[in-house]
Amino acid sequence: MNKRGFASDNFSGVLPEVMEAIQKVNHGHSMAYGGDQYTASAIEKFKQVFGENIDVYFVFNGTGANVIGLSTLTQSWNSVICPSTAHIQVDECGAPDKFTGCKFIPIEVTDGKLTPELIKTQLHGFGFEHHSQPKVISITQCTELGTVYTPDEIKAICDLAHEHDMYVHMDGARLANAVASLDVDVREITNKAGVDVLSFGGTKNGMMLGEAVIFFNPELSKNAKYVRKQSMQLCSKMKFIACQFEALLTDDLWLRTARHANKMAKLLEAEVRNIPAVKITQEVQTNGIWAYIPKDKIETLQNEYFFWVWDEHAGEVRWLCSFDTTEDDIKGFVALLKEQLT
Ligand SMILES: Cc1ncc(COP(=O)(O)O)c(C=O)c1O
Repeated sequence: MNKRGFASDNFSGVLPEVMEAIQKVNHGHSMAYGGDQYTASAIEKFKQVFGENIDVYFVFNGTGANVIGLSTLTQSWNSVICPSTAHIQVDECGAPDKFTGCKFIPIEVTDGKLTPELIKTQLHGFGFEHHSQPKVISITQCTELGTVYTPDEIKAICDLAHEHDMYVHMDGARLANAVASLDVDVREITNKAGVDVLSFGGTKNGMMLGEAVIFFNPELSKNAKYVRKQSMQLCSKMKFIACQFEALLTDDLWLRTARHANKMAKLLEAEVRNIPAVKITQEVQTNGIWAYIPKDKIETLQNEYFFWVWDEHAGEVRWLCSFDTTEDDIKGFVALLKEQLT
């Protein structure tokens, strides 16, 4: 299946700049396991983005990044509070549960976002030996429903966590889309707001593969290198992940691609708002649209432009745009929607 569609930003290929970077480092011999100059240089780039006081670990995938961040912050008697929609809760086959040994406490949300009020309902049992000890609040930016937390909302969650001697983990598989949407410096929604550890996405934003785990308090990352190795996420030919990040972070490529994907989603939104059979269910803030459409039309539409069904029972679908979505893709899809749904 090579047809273009709206399934996910990981259906698209690799940014030309990233492919070129891989080609460029593909010569000679380099120190393995991250001891090479390209890894050092990519880490330096991250420091330019987030500031000097960070510790960066490159990994293969987003699940691995989340597992490493969470495992480094917890003991098996801890609990992790997250939204019911969190990728760590519903889409990682229990890897975070297995590797951390922690209890995950999902909180029911409708827009993908936690709030201090919701979190407070689970902040109890501290010091009580019969109760899992709450240690981490995990939030996703942008959320699994394409919504974004403002800097103040994140700060309020981080303040609450720190008041209770807890940490905040951010799943930033699509952090770039959130930064592009809010039009803020990335630090405003991460380290400046108080986030302790971040999974920084690469794959969904045009890399071939690779994510970064970023600790904003090096005291917390003392054991991260052991956790990464034990979690099978230590890449021996590290330069091939590092060089992709170097390319992505050069001249704001990571934000230009995200801005484009978000813009395409806005374009699609403007068009489908004119189709009465499409009922958008979430505010369109980043690169995706969630909508109810007539269930009996889903398969026909998928055959032309593939996309995922989000909630089979309700007939809710998800349409995601990517760095390589074109205006022609939108036009073609909208024409098909109009033909099938009106
Ligand atoms: C919010 C979020 N976090 C993490 C991941 C995990 O990424 P991977 O499939 O690389 O493990 C995904 C992938 O869909 C995601 O959407």
